Amino acid sequence: RQLVVPRNASEPPEVFHWLPIVGSAISYGNDPLRFFFECREKYGDVFTFILLGRRVTVALGSKGNNFVLGGKSIVFNAEDAYTHLTTPVFGKDVVYDVPNEKFMEQKRFVKVGLSTDNLRAYVGMIEDEVEEFFNADPSFRTYQSNDINEWGTFSTVKVMQEITILTASRTLQGKEIRAGLTKDFAEVYNDLDGGFTPINFMFPNLPLESYRKRDRAQKKMSDFYVGIIKNRREGKSSETEHDMIAALIEQTYRNGEYLKDHEIAHIMIALLMAGQHTSSATGSWTLLHLANNPEVAEALYKEQVENFGTPDGKFRSPSFEELRALPVLDSAIRETLRMHPPIHSIMRYVREDVVVPGSLSAPSKDKTYLIPKGNYVLASPYVSQMDPRVWKNADTWDPARWSDPEGVAAAAYNTYADEHGEKIDYGFGAVSKGTESPYQPFGAGKHRCIGEQFAYLQLGAIITSIVRKIEMRIETVPEHNYHTMIVMPKNPNIISYRRRKFD
Ligand code: HEM
Repeated sequence: RQLVVPRNASEPPEVFHWLPIVGSAISYGNDPLRFFFECREKYGDVFTFILLGRRVTVALGSKGNNFVLGGKSIVFNAEDAYTHLTTPVFGKDVVYDVPNEKFMEQKRFVKVGLSTDNLRAYVGMIEDEVEEFFNADPSFRTYQSNDINEWGTFSTVKVMQEITILTASRTLQGKEIRAGLTKDFAEVYNDLDGGFTPINFMFPNLPLESYRKRDRAQKKMSDFYVGIIKNRREGKSSETEHDMIAALIEQTYRNGEYLKDHEIAHIMIALLMAGQHTSSATGSWTLLHLANNPEVAEALYKEQVENFGTPDGKFRSPSFEELRALPVLDSAIRETLRMHPPIHSIMRYVREDVVVPGSLSAPSKDKTYLIPKGNYVLASPYVSQMDPRVWKNADTWDPARWSDPEGVAAAAYNTYADEHGEKIDYGFGAVSKGTESPYQPFGAGKHRCIGEQFAYLQLGAIITSIVRKIEMRIETVPEHNYHTMIVMPKNPNIISYRRRKFD
C-alpha cells in the first residue's frame, strides 16, 4: 500500500507536559473527560499526548470516532493494543491472542449464542434471580419485613455487581456456572478481576503478587469451564440448554474445525469479564439516577403497571419483545449510557503511518496531520456524548430527550438512518450502529459490541424488577471513579428505599 503523504503534513500537536515519560498520565487518569475537553480547547479535535511512554493520538467528535473505529485493522490494530491486558485474564487462543480474522469468526460464534430465541428464554430467569436476591440479601431486610413505611438502604454498586453475576450466570453462562457460584468461585473471580486494571494495562510485566494471583486464577477458572464442557460433550447434561456453551460446542471455523475445549472456556471467561463490569456499572448508574429523579422512576413504575399489572396488584412477566418496546425503560438506559459509557477510551495500535483526513484535523485547508506508526490512536465516544455543541443540557440526565422528535438525539439518528437507508427503530440498540455518530456507548465498526441486546435485556429485566418492588431516593448522584477499567460511581453510593405497596 502506497501512502500518499502531503508535503506539508506534520504530526498532530503534542499536549504540553512537565514530566517526560509520565506525560499527561495523571490528568488523563484522574478525569479523562475533562482532560479531553481541555485539550480540545487548546489543540482542536486531533492531538497527541504522552501516556507513560506511549504516544497516544486522540481524534475527537463523531468524525474522530469514525476515523478510529472505522479504520482498517491492518492499520489501527486492536490486538496489539489490548493483548497484554486481556490474554493473561481470558487465556490463550481467543479474542486478541489470535489474528483478527480468527477472532471475527469467534465473534460470529458468540452471536449464535445470543440469538433471539435464547434471549427470549432469559427474561423470566432474570426476574426470578432478582426476586430471590431481594428475599435473601441482608441489604433488603426492610423489604423482607413487609413494612412499607420503613426505609432501608443498600449499596448500589455492591448489589448490582451481585445481581449482574447471578443473572448472567443463570442465563448466558449456564446452569453449572450458576450452581458453582460459591465463595470459592467468588475468590477466583476476584483474583482474576484483580488482573484487569489500568495498572495491568500500563505495566504488563510487574513482579506483583496480584499478577501471580491472576495467573493462578486464570488456570483454575479455565479448568472449571473445561470440566463443564467435557461433561456436556459426554452427554451428561441431557436437557437442551439456551446458554453460550451449548451454542459454542456446535460451531465450526471456516476450515471445518470445531472449537477446542480451552477455546470455549476462554471465550466464556472473556464474556464474563466483558459483561460483568459494563452491565453492573450501567445498572448502578441507572438506579442512582432513578433514585435521584423519583418522577422518572414513577413513570417507569406506571409503564410496568399499565403493561404488565394484573388485577390482584401483581405483575406478569413481559416477553422479550414486550420488554424491548417500553419507551420509558429504553430511554432511561439509553440516557444513562450517554452520560456514563462504561468505556471512556477505545484504543488501537498504529501499524502503519496514517494521514488524518483534512476535514477532521486541519486548522486550515492546506495543512494536514500524519500519525506515525508506533503511536496509539484513541477514540472517545464519551466526549461526543457529553458535547454541549451536540446535546442540549448535556450534563443533565434527561431520558425524555430520546422521545423528543425535535431533539438532538432523535435528529442525530434520523440523519444516520437517512444516510444508511435504514429505518429508525427505537427498539434496543438500533440507533448506534454507524461509525460516524455522536452516540456510541457500544463502540462502532469491526470491534463493535455484540453484547448490546443481551445487556439491554439484562438491565431492563433487572431494573423493572427492582422498580416494581421498591421506591428509591438519593440526594446526589456520586461522581465518576475513573481509576477502574470500567467507569464506576464513587463511594459512597447508598440508595434509600422502601417497599412498594402492591408488590
Ligand atoms: C466490544 C461496550 C456489554 C461483549 C465492546 C466495545 C464497547 C463495549 C465500547 C468496543 C471495544 C473496542 O472497540 O475496542 C459495552 C457496554 C456494555 C457491554 C457499554 C453493557 C452496558 C457486553 C456484554 C458482552 C459484551 C454483556 C457479552 C455478552 C463484547 C464483545 C466485544 C465488545 C465480544 C468485541 C470486542 C472486539 O471486537 O474487539 N463493548 N459492552 N459486551 N463487547 Fe461489549
